[in-house]
Amino acid sequence: MSSAAEPRSFPPDFLWGAATSAYQIEGSPLADGGGESIWHRFAREPGRVRDAEAVPIASDHYRRWQEDLGLMRTLGLNAYRFSVAWARVMPAGTGAVNQAGLDFYRRLVDGLLTAGIRPCLTLYHWDLPAALEDRGGWLHPDSADWFAAYAAVVHAALGDRVAMWATFNEPWVVMDAGYLHGCHAPGHRSRAEAAQVGHNLLRAHAAGLAALRAAGARQLGIVLNLEPKYPASEAPADRAAAQRADAYMNGFFLDPLLTGAYPALLPGLFGADWPATPAAELARIRQPLDWIGVNYYTRSVVRHDPEAGFLAAAALRQPEAPHMATNWEIYPAGLGKVLDRVWQLARPLPIYITENGAAFPDAPSAAGGRIEDPRRSDYLVAHLREARAALARGIDLRGYFVWSLLDNLEWAEGLSLRFGLVRVDPANQERTIKASGYRYAEIIRAGGRLPEP
Ligand code: FCB
Repeated sequence: MSSAAEPRSFPPDFLWGAATSAYQIEGSPLADGGGESIWHRFAREPGRVRDAEAVPIASDHYRRWQEDLGLMRTLGLNAYRFSVAWARVMPAGTGAVNQAGLDFYRRLVDGLLTAGIRPCLTLYHWDLPAALEDRGGWLHPDSADWFAAYAAVVHAALGDRVAMWATFNEPWVVMDAGYLHGCHAPGHRSRAEAAQVGHNLLRAHAAGLAALRAAGARQLGIVLNLEPKYPASEAPADRAAAQRADAYMNGFFLDPLLTGAYPALLPGLFGADWPATPAAELARIRQPLDWIGVNYYTRSVVRHDPEAGFLAAAALRQPEAPHMATNWEIYPAGLGKVLDRVWQLARPLPIYITENGAAFPDAPSAAGGRIEDPRRSDYLVAHLREARAALARGIDLRGYFVWSLLDNLEWAEGLSLRFGLVRVDPANQERTIKASGYRYAEIIRAGGRLPEP
């Protein structure tokens, strides 16, 4: 039962949104003068990306954005989080600007505003222009300046219309999957490169933030994926393993941004691979934010294992617990834990839940083509309860964005993982709102009133 203090609903100005990213939904990467991104190139390398043939189409949002805007209206969203494809706007990454690419986003943003939906723009959701990778990508010391120049170009075109700006989406994934494990573009596998890129992404965030602020932009933030690490037992070795995993995944970005220092454990874990992190750079990385975004999907339970990589920490599957199609445990309480932690470090900074959602293999039911996805609805409601409880604890939570508006390309997993509130039929791109979409719409209409358990 909810406590007497717990509000039954959400504040009237709460943002109710859904999130997407450019590579995952747009398709048509080279249309109207756009350039190739590292993901489009990666997908052409054999064996890297499932459903590679679908990559140039994705969810065909570049051509169907008006229909998608209609879906957002039907759902009753008052905010939409999307990303800009850097190579669409600057095909070579630096220098020449492709006006037609900017015009696409201008039409989208104007359409959102007309519909009363706040445009929440992410500058970098993993799709570096391939031309910049050829010059060294995020390893290049000038990458921070490249990013700042790109941020200024987007701001000059859209600055008067965008409600919220995020510099980066989940820099940890770029570092870990893109540069340590190589399962994401650009497919590098080097611990030294990963650490350097992690630091360079923070430098780029700082440079982008400064450029946006100098141009007069407001509501600037960054989006981090945070996953609480629980020790598998009370044994000191397991507790220490959980701390290492936490320093690497959560502390690597959270701590420098909010405290001005990397977690003390990190240089030791990386040894000779730890990059130079001059005090002046750390001071710049800590410059004030207007908000912070948390992407939350799951937790992990960690055991000490000397064989498990440089962290000597292995994630243990919880066989009794429910999981989604990604094999991630469904663990709503972890969201509350993460929000408490961020609030402790960041208060009074407002927090947004910038992504939360679940993949299940849903299919139209025989009767009337309705898509019944009760597990997704339950997931969303359970996490919204955690959000509501966080508000009751005094956390300044301002909004919630479902990942994702549409079924889309889930990176290396292609079309196999479907997170959408709206089904997209890969055969003909037909859109169908799932039952979870209607459920979310009802919750929004009721001001956030949740079905009680
Ligand atoms: C997050 C990403 C998003 C999507 C979801 C499932 O890590 O930001 O693009 O892939 O996971």
